[in-house]
Parts: sequence; structure tokens; C-alpha cells
Amino acid sequence: MTVLGIESSCDDTAAAVVEDGRLLSSVVSSQILHEKYGGVVPELASRDHQRSIVDVVREALSGAGVDIPAIDAIAVTYGPGLAGSLLVGLSYAKALAGARNLPLAGVNHIDGHIYSVFIEEPRPAFPFLCLVVSGGHTLLVRVDDEFRHELLGTTRDDAAGEAFDKVGKMLGLPYPGGPEIDRSAAGGDPTFHDFPRASLEGYDFSFSGVKTSALYYLNGHGDHGRRVLLQEHMADVCASFQAAVVDMLMSRLTKAVEATGVERVAITGGVSANSALREAAAAYCDRSGLELFVPRPVYCMDNAAMIAVAGYHKLIAGKTSPLTLTADANAAFNQARLTSG
Ligand code: KG4
Ligand code: ZN
Repeated sequence: MTVLGIESSCDDTAAAVVEDGRLLSSVVSSQILHEKYGGVVPELASRDHQRSIVDVVREALSGAGVDIPAIDAIAVTYGPGLAGSLLVGLSYAKALAGARNLPLAGVNHIDGHIYSVFIEEPRPAFPFLCLVVSGGHTLLVRVDDEFRHELLGTTRDDAAGEAFDKVGKMLGLPYPGGPEIDRSAAGGDPTFHDFPRASLEGYDFSFSGVKTSALYYLNGHGDHGRRVLLQEHMADVCASFQAAVVDMLMSRLTKAVEATGVERVAITGGVSANSALREAAAAYCDRSGLELFVPRPVYCMDNAAMIAVAGYHKLIAGKTSPLTLTADANAAFNQARLTSG
């Protein structure tokens, strides 16, 4: 079965082709136009998806060496995400599915991130714990089987990537701040400044405290002192902030491992590209005899390979979505959006 996957939930227009679960091509066109605004501008994102979608799909098809008639089914993100952005990929997918009479599989973007560990070998067996950390989401999930999962914890305020991006802005780094902080932290001293680590009950996360603390810390130096601090200690400040976020993520993850006894751990979403998080998770899993699954950085970020793979798994289980499937900006993670057939 050859599946065309389409993803347009935020600021990446993406298409991918998967044959029997094996990736043939993956194309991501990232909208750099938001950089100068320091964040994603929804209206501009939607318009740019419209400009790019046809070419992106064409490139994915030619990269896979197939043409539209070779496609057996279409997988597409229906939510969560920006409504205007979701609509572009979804309308395209529905139009193509309708015109060609192809089955359609609506994929929840979070399920997509979870399935990013199924794009390449080695793939995890069930059950596994999955930390989904991106610009819009921070969730800790126990994945028991195909599309059967239990949400253990989520963020009470900012997403982990959002905290990276906001603090990156405070530090005068380009948008998005996450990869910039990661790069700037190289060689820095993570103990230079002790940023607070929120510790909530259960498995929930909170990143607004560390973000506000970064603001007070920087403002506390005054304009001149702040400039000097960042000139002399940018690496140390970045490493210290990054260490606090990584500690908070790892503390929930280790707690869940201890409580559930699950021996496989996956980390996905844009923030899973973070080198300190990858190192901390690898060291922990090594020490504890756990298997760790983290996608290559290219599949950590938003992409359509994960949507095509997730869609393929739905389709082979006989699950399809009706052509009346609508974009759902706030799609709940566990929401059933599929009808069997
Ligand atoms: O998964 P993604 O591409 O989009 C969403 O679904 O949100 O994640 C983007 C987020 C951004 O907040 C970005 O700053 C963050 O992932 N990110 C990183 C790194 N690379 C991307 N955060 C920390 N370290 C990185 N290396
Ligand atoms: Zn995402």
C-alpha cells in the first residue's frame, strides 16, 4: 500500500510517500517568513501553505519515483494546529481523495509525532513511554498498542519548545530559539545559574516559572549588565536554562518509568532534537537498562513522514476517515476521529 502523507498544521508544508510502512520520500518546506516577526503569524502561514502545497506534493511524489495513480491512500493532519494552516493540507487531501476515490486517514498531529519513531529502524515494541515535546505540546504518554494510549501528564502552561523560543527571544537570539539555545549552550557551564525546576504532582509539567525567572534574572542585571552578561556568558546562560528544562522533562519521564515498569522510552517532537535532552535520556536509559527511541532530528521536527506512517498503520487496521472530516484546531489527543470501513 502506497500512502501519500500531508502535514500543514503550523508553519511547515510537508508531504511524504510511504510504501508498506517504508519511507520513500519526505519533503518539508519550512516557512522562514515568520522569522522577522519572532513567531508564527497564522494568516501568513495559511497563505504560504497555499503557495507551496502543490509543489511540495509534486516533489514528494517525484522523490519517491511515483505518480498520483500509484497512490493507494492519503493520510493528512486534521488537528491540532492553526485552523487556517490545517485547512490547506486537509482541503488538498480531501480533494485528491475525492477526485481519485482514495481512502483518507485523518491523523492527529500528536499521534503523528508518536509515530515518528516508526519511520525508521529500530522501531519500538509496545508498550512504550513517549515524551512528545514540541513548540505547541508537552505530553507524557504510555503507548500500549496501535492508537491505544494513556495520557499520563501534560503541561499546565507553556510547551517546552515555547519556553525555549520565548527565552531565546529574551536572549536576543533569532526565532525559533530552541535550536539557537542548543547551539549557543555548547561548551557552556550548566551550573552557571540555578534556574528553578517546577515539580508538580503526578506527571504534569510547567515551564512558565523558568521562563519568568529567566526574564527577572536578565532584567536584574540592568541594560548594561545584561549586555555584558550575554557577551561574556551567553553559552553559560543557555546551558543553565537548557539544563533546567531537561531536568524537568527527565524527572517526569523517570518517575513514569519507575511507576509503570515500562522498559522502552521514546522522545519525539521538535525539542527531542535538543542535544542535552538526547544525552540525558541516553545516559539514563543506559544506566537503567531501558531501550531508547529518538528519531533523527529531521523527523523530530514537523514532517509528513510521521503522518504517512501513522496513516498507514490506521489504514491497515481498516480505519478510514470520511470526506466530511473537518480541521480541528484544538483536536483533543485521545479524540476518536475515525470510522471503521
Ligand atoms: O515539532 P515541531 O517542529 O513543531 C511543533 O509541533 O510545535 O517543534 C518545534 C519546536 C520549536 O519550539 C523549536 O524551538 C523546538 O521545537 N526545537 C528545539 C530544538 N530544535 C527544535 N528546542 C530545543 N533544542 C533544539 N535543538
Ligand atoms: Zn509538531
